[in-house]
Amino acid sequence: MGVIGQPVPRVDGPAKVAGKATYAAEFHPEGLAYAATVRATVPHGRVASFDTTGAEALPGVIAVLTHENAPRLPWQPVEQAPVDPGGGEQLKPLQSDRILFAGQPIALVVAESQEAARDAASRVRFTCIAEAGAGLIFDPARARPPSEGTQESYPAEWERGDTEGALAASAVQVEGDYLQPRLYHNAMEPHATIAAWDTDGGLTLWDKSQWVDNFRDQIARNFGLDENEVRVISPFVGGAFGAALRCWPHVTLAAMAAKVVERPVRLELTRRELYTSIGFRPQTLQNVRLGADGDGRLRGIVQTAWGLTSAYEDYGEEVLDPTGMLYDAESAKTVYRLVEVDTNTPTPMRGPGAVTGVFAMEMAIDELADAAGIDPLEFRLRNYAERDRKKDLPFSSKALRDCYATAARRFGWEKRNPERRSMRADGMLVGYGMASAVWPAMRSPASVRVRLFANGTAVVRTAASDMGPGTYTSMTQVAAEMLDLPMERVTFELGDSTLPMAPVHGGSMTMASVGSAVAAGCTRLCQEIGRLGDAKDGEHPVETLKRLRRDSFEVEGKAEPGKEAETHSSYAFGAVFAEVRVDPDLGTVRVSRLVGAYDGGVIVNPRTARSQAIGGMVQGIGMALMEAGEWDERLGRVMNANLAEYLVPVHADIEELDAVFVESEDRILNPLGVKGIAEIALCGVAPAIANAVWHATGLRIRELPLTPDRLLMAEEWAEGMPA
Ligand code: MOS
Repeated sequence: MGVIGQPVPRVDGPAKVAGKATYAAEFHPEGLAYAATVRATVPHGRVASFDTTGAEALPGVIAVLTHENAPRLPWQPVEQAPVDPGGGEQLKPLQSDRILFAGQPIALVVAESQEAARDAASRVRFTCIAEAGAGLIFDPARARPPSEGTQESYPAEWERGDTEGALAASAVQVEGDYLQPRLYHNAMEPHATIAAWDTDGGLTLWDKSQWVDNFRDQIARNFGLDENEVRVISPFVGGAFGAALRCWPHVTLAAMAAKVVERPVRLELTRRELYTSIGFRPQTLQNVRLGADGDGRLRGIVQTAWGLTSAYEDYGEEVLDPTGMLYDAESAKTVYRLVEVDTNTPTPMRGPGAVTGVFAMEMAIDELADAAGIDPLEFRLRNYAERDRKKDLPFSSKALRDCYATAARRFGWEKRNPERRSMRADGMLVGYGMASAVWPAMRSPASVRVRLFANGTAVVRTAASDMGPGTYTSMTQVAAEMLDLPMERVTFELGDSTLPMAPVHGGSMTMASVGSAVAAGCTRLCQEIGRLGDAKDGEHPVETLKRLRRDSFEVEGKAEPGKEAETHSSYAFGAVFAEVRVDPDLGTVRVSRLVGAYDGGVIVNPRTARSQAIGGMVQGIGMALMEAGEWDERLGRVMNANLAEYLVPVHADIEELDAVFVESEDRILNPLGVKGIAEIALCGVAPAIANAVWHATGLRIRELPLTPDRLLMAEEWAEGMPA
């Protein structure tokens, strides 16, 4: 029995709780100066003039940069990073007087202290000229198809079979409009960059990054440098959820400021600035039409999504990827449209696309099951997809049936009275609801360097990231097992662009990608040492090294996907069951229990995996009941851009969470058999809760979040509530 699969505690846990893990803003190069931004106040237009005299007169102010005096950067074309939108042009800060959204950085103050910088920034006077832009209202009437280059990921239209014919011939049909608001990552650690130029023109960035190689490449192009002249260091990331995939404008601003003042500069975004300086999950409207036979066989699915994008970049996401593959419907159709708004560009947020699409789909399926008079779980089983009918490929693995059965058993689904508003406890309306979850299982090329020492220790290095899921820990486990060493003797280093290439720490593919490279590197190391020493079977490589009188031995390891994506469809799956209690007087909803069963392939560390799963559940409770970026349609600003008014669940909101991983492995996808568990854990939670709220109250609230006002304003509320 190896250490893979063991619930070992986090190797970086002690450093984190002791405050010894150094995050981006906490590095302190000699001579550090501090930056603060000035932000545009109109959503579209131009900066007409600046008066920086008041700011410059403050003690400790070193420089005030605006588009009038900032250096013009080369901004050489960069090869499109897969985390960047497929169309449009990214914001180039302080390169012109153009204003593309309210909150855009238009000036930067550098000072001896953070306080002086912020104070001075507040004293920069400027005038903006507002001009007509794309508009501030998310209006589907202004929708357009995504740009040509992006349609491979999210086609404007896709259809299998004759959906209209199938819908018309269906005995039961439902249709609904579903709205999900802007959602913000709100990671605990704010984004921060420290930039330091060295005397020979090289640049070091300490940053919060899910992909140091991407930041390196982008900054190198922006400043006209060679890639090897830029080093990005990011050993710890305090949560990101997708927010640190792109090299956002503040990274360039910090490097620009450091160049101008010839000192290291730190630019740490405030909580409010996080709402305009990084992206967000876009507001998305969906229309779902479903039809089934009387016995509950799905015949037609039509799902249309209108996603919000900025006016200067074409941000789309795979909202409709699950539509054609989640159920075994005879026909399916998707339509995807973008709606431009004068705002900053959205970005991936945990489970981008699928979480949004599954929310609408799984609510609609619940409605259809009810219309057909079939239990919602039974309905899903009757339409279970044994094959991906969208790609017309077999699944490389699929244990969703086990997920349904396991979660239903642990939840006690059989106790559900199918009648809505029929269950009560302690004066509360009780509801049971469930939903499916799905997220693509992906893999990318990755590489590592492994060094084994004759003292019986090893170091594994790669440019991967750990935004919190436990990369340090799980990779140490893989290496320890492959090298047949105790965990304590293996050190894993990551988060530095000078280390061997790793892919984006996103898409739930770090274990499949980097884990496979770690395994390959360790295997190769053992083989090469064995060959070098002509070792007999059973001699540990450490013994061979000693025998050879070598202090250490190092190899590179690489792993990359084969052609499996052409022959198989790969997804992680899940089933989520929710119990809610709704106050019949106040319309407040509490989630009293959540049970999730997941097919994530091989689970390398059940402890950190459970932690991810319950984290996803908590985030899902937020998505269902609390979270929304409230948009002011006149000013083009998020009104609740702070953690006091943008509500996220706290401990007092959370009751019983039960997360379990079913037996599963996917050796087609990668040698470790893993599928990824980060994003699947958020998927399905919100619709399971919304379906439970319907079961408790009889209300189909199709707009998130399910706040008390939405329940109390529903027409059926007063007349429908049992006395
Ligand atoms: Mo995730 S949204 O791929 O960081």
